[in-house]
Amino acid sequence: MSILKVSRMGHPVLRKKVKPVPPADITSGPIQRLIDDMMHTMLEYNGVGLAAPQVHEELRLFVAHVVGERDEDEPEGANEDAPRKPQLMAVINPEITPVGRHVEEDWEGCLSIPDLRGLVPRHRDIKVKAYDRTGKPVDISASGFMARVIQHETDHLNGVLFLDRMKSLESLSFIEEYARYHAERD
Ligand code: NI
Repeated sequence: MSILKVSRMGHPVLRKKVKPVPPADITSGPIQRLIDDMMHTMLEYNGVGLAAPQVHEELRLFVAHVVGERDEDEPEGANEDAPRKPQLMAVINPEITPVGRHVEEDWEGCLSIPDLRGLVPRHRDIKVKAYDRTGKPVDISASGFMARVIQHETDHLNGVLFLDRMKSLESLSFIEEYARYHAERD
């Protein structure tokens, strides 16, 4: 596996609306290798999501490393409060539909916009139609942070960066100042 070079803001690839992956190609060697390399790259740089244009690939796919929703088929009452392990997922050709009208603001950063954080409004609840890395169509329901990551990464496939979504640039902060003045302390 390789660590790929991450494109930074200003590179035209980040401003393109990129093409779907033909579903028949999902299980091909080059796409599977790209997914593995993107996961490796995301983890190397401590990202929670990474979209293909961020590694100079003009394809509608992203990887994410987030704690998913509780499985429907998980037994009732089993380990309700146990911390859940983040899942590595690949999401291909995502189509997002907001569920309800609840929009909330929270902090985001981006590997293509290093060292900055800003408050971004996102739909709290979404449904996503996509393909997984085995080429199977999947329906994903997501809320909160996972929904935020999916919206941020899907924006990358349409040439949109989180700065474009901010209602105002007032909250825009360098990481050091974010940690000092804005990060929630437990
Ligand atoms: Ni990003």
